[in-house]
Amino acid sequence: MDDLNAFVIPQGCRIGRPLILKALTGSTNDDARLLASGGAGHGTTVLADAQTAGRGRLGRAWSSPSGENLYLSVVWRAGLDSIDPPLLALGAGLAVSEALDLFTPAPTAVKWPNDVRYHGKKLAGLLAEAIYRGSRANAVVLGLGVNVRGEVFPDSIRAIATSLRIVRGEDVVRAVVLTALFERLDGTLGQLCADGFGAIRQRLIDRCESIGARVTVGEITGVGVDLDAGGALLIRDDYGAIHPVRAGELR
Ligand code: BTN
Repeated sequence: MDDLNAFVIPQGCRIGRPLILKALTGSTNDDARLLASGGAGHGTTVLADAQTAGRGRLGRAWSSPSGENLYLSVVWRAGLDSIDPPLLALGAGLAVSEALDLFTPAPTAVKWPNDVRYHGKKLAGLLAEAIYRGSRANAVVLGLGVNVRGEVFPDSIRAIATSLRIVRGEDVVRAVVLTALFERLDGTLGQLCADGFGAIRQRLIDRCESIGARVTVGEITGVGVDLDAGGALLIRDDYGAIHPVRAGELR
């Protein structure tokens, strides 16, 4: 875990305070959810070297071997009276993409809603889970898996996954990537909560590979043309009709 331990939490950054570091856990999202339900404060972060039951979106497993990648979950509480959890998840995808740009030869892209990709292969994924009190979310757990040093992936994702190590052609220290993630998540999500989605929307559009591409979600097929003020992907079908898509998996 040596290359994981040496991270720095930038001054003023509220993420990673406190930070609970585990050599092995089931899922950092489960750990963080439990902590959040018990009242853990904004910024509380669980980081693991390996997970035995890492979870991805849509009930998929997230491969989480030791010594290779980053698996962390952040308890986010700020701004939830004005920012809905799906917008926070969009903002987190943008922040991760911007942070990973520091380590890639060319800029990374966001596949809506929040996969971070490099040349069409997945570098990082985000699982955001809201914790509700009544009808309002009082915390969102932002679970992040970043492929940093891995070079061999399970058969099921081999064709669609990559890592910073692969795209750089040289090793990367996980702690350095972690420090960049803390800084960007705090900055970009802080801006989102203070000034609303409009403050980051254009930055997300600029790196959203689903805009200008042919996409399918559920029954809708067409070209992604924009993100609306609520973060929905606008898809123009072959008859010219515009469909706002608020959730789902793009094919
Ligand atoms: C996706 O399907 O793209 C989301 C993957 C999210 C994986 C991360 S790893 C840390 C955290 N703990 C989990 O069990 N899942 C998230």
